[in-house]
Amino acid sequence: DWTPVNIITDAVEKVREQVGDRRAIIGLSGGVDSATAAMLVHRAIGDNLTAVFVDHGLLRQNEAEQVVEAFGKNSDVPLVHVDASERFLRKLAGVDDPEAKRKIIGEEFIRTFEEEAGKIAENATFLVQGTLYSDVIESGTRDAAKIKSHHNVGGLPEIMDLDLVEPLRSLFKDEVRVVAAELGMPERMVWRQPFPGPGLAIRIIGDVTRERLEILRKADFVLQDEIRNAGLYRDLWQSFAVLPAIHSVGVMGDARTYAYPVMIRAVTSDDAMTADWARLPYDLLERISNRIINEVPGVNRVALDITSKPPGTIEWE
Ligand code: XMP
Repeated sequence: DWTPVNIITDAVEKVREQVGDRRAIIGLSGGVDSATAAMLVHRAIGDNLTAVFVDHGLLRQNEAEQVVEAFGKNSDVPLVHVDASERFLRKLAGVDDPEAKRKIIGEEFIRTFEEEAGKIAENATFLVQGTLYSDVIESGTRDAAKIKSHHNVGGLPEIMDLDLVEPLRSLFKDEVRVVAAELGMPERMVWRQPFPGPGLAIRIIGDVTRERLEILRKADFVLQDEIRNAGLYRDLWQSFAVLPAIHSVGVMGDARTYAYPVMIRAVTSDDAMTADWARLPYDLLERISNRIINEVPGVNRVALDITSKPPGTIEWE
């Protein structure tokens, strides 16, 4: 019978069988999949699991804190938190090609994980991954290739000579959320919208700088806040802000401004393979626009992306 309790019991048993009394590590991405995998495996093998959270500094506002809190306060999963934002920003300086950004972030992620998890991994036999059923069936497509290169920490098992444990391999996203809730994960984590491994870096067109990250993070926070207040957060597959590399002229008081526009992207989807742009209510769009311009220095215009997938992709890069 498909109940969350049965799934958990089943998964825990399988992990125990596979891992026995050996050690395992897992890389946390900040999303619900890796967090759920970590909690499941911890239930199975206890402190023989160590979680490593490589914070690349490209997450949304407060998300890194929420990951640390979810693991520190609500579970006893041993957690190593690595603040690597400096080194990621240094590597990304001056890079504006989307694929180059992805490659740099993927490689730097593996390097950081290896360095930080190296000592722990010496005693570990297994690497836990939050691979879902959809990741498995989509392998071979462009998206899956991207997702594998970062989200699933591709290459790590070979580099570190570890065997894979994939406790979510037969589950869909909505099933993972049910399991996560049953495991006591905070609501914010359970319902978190999908987020790309390379993070805000691929939502900043052009150069990723600390200043531009700050602008996007603030605008994105306002957008999330309004979407949540409107009760639409769970209905949308993803909703986020994008920062283009252009300026436009505006007027504030009686002064001329010349600043960034912010692009709003909100889509509905079942599996990210196709997506439709969300018909957000006009009054919500108005609140988002007013607040972003009033609350985010450096922004003087808000525009709405009304492209579905195909022909657009969900992300801009
Ligand atoms: P696109 O932009 O290709 O995105 O329509 C499809 C889905 O995949 C997410 N995405 C990623 N997820 N690592 C990830 O873990 C990545 O490099 C990556 N790139 C895109 C995107 O947010 C959307 O949900």
